[in-house]
Amino acid sequence: SNAKFFVGGNWKCNGSVASVRTLVDELNSGVLNSGVEAVCAPPFIYIDYVMQHLDSKKFALAAQNCWIGGNGAFTGEISAEQLIDFGVPWVLAGHSERRALNGESNEFVAKKAAHAVSSGMSVIACIGETLDQRNSGSVFKVLDAQMQALVDEITDWSKVVIAYEPVWAIGTGVVASPAQAQEVHAYLRKFCQAKLGLSVADTLRIIYGGSVNDANCKELAHMEDIDGFLVGGASLKGCSFVTICNAGG
Ligand code: G3H
Repeated sequence: SNAKFFVGGNWKCNGSVASVRTLVDELNSGVLNSGVEAVCAPPFIYIDYVMQHLDSKKFALAAQNCWIGGNGAFTGEISAEQLIDFGVPWVLAGHSERRALNGESNEFVAKKAAHAVSSGMSVIACIGETLDQRNSGSVFKVLDAQMQALVDEITDWSKVVIAYEPVWAIGTGVVASPAQAQEVHAYLRKFCQAKLGLSVADTLRIIYGGSVNDANCKELAHMEDIDGFLVGGASLKGCSFVTICNAGG
């Protein structure tokens, strides 16, 4: 596709003041290709530190989640408006861990993503099938439903990155093969072509996530419709994450 290579590092609920400091130092000492857009998503409480110390010429910031709507009586939540106010441009929506552990539905994820976009944020919207769904042959049916919910709610697709993360590949060490990932990415681009038009589909970043590491990233990055990665475990090591960021060439 004609999309700029995009790599996100999702730190998940990992780290401490000490380890975040080390990771930021490692990332700052890395050399990034000019052709990559790289984003780090620390836990909320470390965002302030990371914002002040991470080299913003190399890495932008993302939150791992936000509230579905605006400010108000929503104890424990953080809104897209607050993230924008604080200077955080990106947010993840619908990571499979939130879908599974926090009961986030396709519609909830889509409404949240749309609200974040309309608040001025850019969104990494996550989709993907479970192992059961893959084994029962319903991969495309599952992805259709996840994508259609997003298509129904989001109006500005220039602010969206789609992360295809098969649940069976997340944190398991079982990475999708380049052919498996490419098959789905090509399908998703066709879906977007049909629903959103050629120009949106052509520039939309469709990134892969699930056990990406510095050893397997290059082969995946060569696939036609893989425009980058969403990285979990390997994003906690500065040098691995930089290697993955540079896999686009
Ligand atoms: O958001 C990142 C994904 O869940 C991938 O995690 O690289 O640890 O498999 P992982």
